[in-house]
Amino acid sequence: MSTRAQFTSKLGFILSSAGAAVGLGAIWKFPYMAGTNGGSTFIIPYILFCFTIGMFLLLAELVVGRAGRAASINSMIRVGRSRFWGLFGFIGTLTGFLILTFYSTVGGWCVAYAVDAALGNGIITDVKQLGSYFGKFVSDPVSCIGYQLIFMLMTAGVVIFGVQKGIERLSKYLMPTLFILMLVLIVRGLTLPGAWAGVEFMFSLDWEHFNADSVFNAMGFCFFSLSVGAGTLIVYASYLSEADNLPQSTAWVAFLGILAALLGGLMVMPPVFAFGLEPTAGPGLTFVTMPAVFAHMPFGQFFAVLFYICLIVAAITSSVSILEAVTAALGDLKIPRRTAVPIAFTAIMAIGVFCSLSFGPLADVKFFGKTIFDLLDYLTSNVGMPFAALGLAIVAAWVNWPTTRHQLTTAKVLSPMMLTCIRVGIGVVSPAVIIIVVMRSL
Ligand code: ALA
Repeated sequence: MSTRAQFTSKLGFILSSAGAAVGLGAIWKFPYMAGTNGGSTFIIPYILFCFTIGMFLLLAELVVGRAGRAASINSMIRVGRSRFWGLFGFIGTLTGFLILTFYSTVGGWCVAYAVDAALGNGIITDVKQLGSYFGKFVSDPVSCIGYQLIFMLMTAGVVIFGVQKGIERLSKYLMPTLFILMLVLIVRGLTLPGAWAGVEFMFSLDWEHFNADSVFNAMGFCFFSLSVGAGTLIVYASYLSEADNLPQSTAWVAFLGILAALLGGLMVMPPVFAFGLEPTAGPGLTFVTMPAVFAHMPFGQFFAVLFYICLIVAAITSSVSILEAVTAALGDLKIPRRTAVPIAFTAIMAIGVFCSLSFGPLADVKFFGKTIFDLLDYLTSNVGMPFAALGLAIVAAWVNWPTTRHQLTTAKVLSPMMLTCIRVGIGVVSPAVIIIVVMRSL
C-alpha cells in the first residue's frame, strides 16, 4: 500500500496547480512582454498556443505524474519504461531548480516593494526618478539578497509542511484572494479616464506589428506561464487520486492560467495608458511605471500595497510548486522532507545570489551577451522547458500510449475520436511546435 501524500480534494488540486501556473509570469512578465511585443500581436498568439500545445502538454504532465506516482525523473522512467526517458525528467527538474534561482530574485523585489509601499516610500509621479530608485535598489547586494532570502524562507516555510498542510492549504486561501485582489485593481484601473486605450492596445489586432518575433516570444511565454516542462505539475499529479478527471482538471488549470495572465495585463495596461506612461518599459514596468500609476491615483498607496501583495501571492504559489518539485526529486532518493527542503533551499540560494548580484557587482559578467539572470531566464524558457516537454510528449503519446489512454479515462469514458485528437495534439502538434521554437531560439 502506497503512503504517498494526496490532495484532499479536486478543488485543492486545481487551485494548487493553478497556483503553480499563475505567478510572476502573469503579473510581472505578461504585461511587459505584451507591451514590448506590440500588445495584441503577442497576446492573441499566446492565447492560441495555450489552448493548443499548452493544454496538451499540461495534460501529458498530469498523465505521466499520476501514472508514475513519483517526481519528474522517476515518473518518466516508470511511464517510459526506460532510464533514458529519466533524462528528460532530469532536465525538467533542473530547469525548475534554475527558474527558482532567478524567480526568487524577482520575488524578493516584490517583497521589498510591498514593504516600501506600506511605508509610503517610492510612490511618486516622476518615472525617471523611479527608474533610478529601482536601479539603486537592484544593484545593492545586501538588500536584494536579503529580500531574496526572505522570499525563499517564506517558500520553504510552506513546502516543509507538505502537500495537505502546506501547499493545498496555502493555495485554497491564496488563489481566490489573488483573483479578488486583481479584480479590485482592474476595476480601479478601468474607471480612470483614458484607460480604455490600454484595453484596445491589448486586444485590437494590429497586423503591422505582427512578426515572427512576437509569435515566438508568445510560445516561450506559453511554456513559462503554464509551467509546462519544469516538472512541477508531474509532481502535483503524483499526489492526485485515480478518481479525478484529468482532461477536466487540465482545462481548469489552463483556463485559470490564461485568465490570470489576461487579468495581469488588464491590471497594468489601462492605468499605464490612462496616465500617458510607456507600455514598452520592459521588465521595469511593474517596478518603475506602476509606482507612478499609483502616485497619480486617489488612495494610491493603498492600491500599491494591494498590487505588490498580489505579486507576492502569485509568486509564492509558483515558487512553492517549484521547490516541491525539487524536494520530491530528493524524496525519491529517500531523503526525508525535513532534510530535503533545507538542501534544496541552500542549493537554490547558492546560485540565486549570483542572479541577484547580476544587477549590481556582477552586472558586467556576461555569457553570450547576457547577464547571469538573463541567461538563466532565457535558457529555462527557451531551451529547458521545451526540451523537457518534448520528451514528455513522446513518452505520453508514443512510448506508452496505453497508460496515457488509461489515465485519460479513469473518471470518464472518452470517445475514440476524442482520444485520437488528444494523441495527435500531444504526440504530433506539440513536438512539431516545440522543435520550431527551439530551433528558432538557438
Ligand atoms: N508559471 C510560473 C509563472 O508564471 C513559473 O510565474
